[in-house]
Amino acid sequence: MTQITLPRPDDWHLHLRDGAMLAGIAPETTRHFARAIIMPNLVPPVVTGAQAAAYRDRILAALPEGADFEPLMTLYLTEETDPADVAAAAASGLVKAVKLYPAGATTNSASGVRDFDKVRGVLEKMAEIGLPLCVHGEVTDPAVDIFDREAVFIDRVLDPVRRATPGLRVVMEHITTKDGVDYARAQGDDLGATITTHHLIINRNHILVGGIKPHYYCLPVAKRETHRRALVEAATSGDARFFLGTDSAPHADPAKESACGCAGCFTATNTMQLLAHVFEAEGRLENLARFASENGPAFYRLPVNVGTITLEKTADPAQWPAKILTGAGPVTVFDPGFPVYWHVKG
Ligand code: NCD
Ligand code: ZN
Repeated sequence: MTQITLPRPDDWHLHLRDGAMLAGIAPETTRHFARAIIMPNLVPPVVTGAQAAAYRDRILAALPEGADFEPLMTLYLTEETDPADVAAAAASGLVKAVKLYPAGATTNSASGVRDFDKVRGVLEKMAEIGLPLCVHGEVTDPAVDIFDREAVFIDRVLDPVRRATPGLRVVMEHITTKDGVDYARAQGDDLGATITTHHLIINRNHILVGGIKPHYYCLPVAKRETHRRALVEAATSGDARFFLGTDSAPHADPAKESACGCAGCFTATNTMQLLAHVFEAEGRLENLARFASENGPAFYRLPVNVGTITLEKTADPAQWPAKILTGAGPVTVFDPGFPVYWHVKG
């Protein structure tokens, strides 16, 4: 097969930022994707329905001329979040999910949750109305090794929270381990899991062997190869619980190439080409539509997009810019480290 047509894909976990960065990187997503779940970890975070409405307006104003793209907004869960505000923002159609960051787990997560008893009322309201909770699944306990933080989170936090809140619909975001895959596979249809492009491609050696590669550093950090293989098997399997969330997270190069570099890989530009490569290498190109275009809408109870995207394999390697030049500085595009022969047509 040298050509494949899918319903237009969606990105179920995306950082669009704000201001000059938003304006500079928005076209990289709208070129291929019809919708995206927009992460609320701005500074300050998007906490209330009113803040989400204002952020959506700024996103719409920053989109390139003629873009056919719908931002699906989220609220950043804090210990002060008001269940009634969440319910109203969901009922109006504005907000499609609430995002849980354990306090301190990742970039701009200082306002996240420390004491889960304080968010019980919000979680119960969400279970009642069917609004998904998107979870950054890493513990922040300094005693837990960074490579173990996802597995420990499942046991210590995720499973207890789900048991305490029957009916709560949860997305395990950007899973990076076989533990995450195995947990998701053992649950029913009230649990989904997103997988990023870069975690299908790199393992921790790519970050650390032969010199430290700041553009491969993201959170959750890439794990050992056995975990990457589990992610590839899950993503390419067609299983409805697994869908694409790129976690494309732009930081200007000076913030990455630093003695204390920010976490985040920028994959909006080349995700579809890279996914076609990964799925073809697995002999599972026929399941790319499920992962990128169908499983996500099914979980979020939204229609599959009407338009299509066509990917074509040629003898010439795909080209993309090494950097996206934004008003907030240059952003390096994720480099898979191998040639990719898949192109997006049109
Ligand atoms: C994200 C960011 O830069 O906002 N970084 C990342 O490494 N993924 C935050 C996040 O989603 O964890
Ligand atoms: Zn993210």
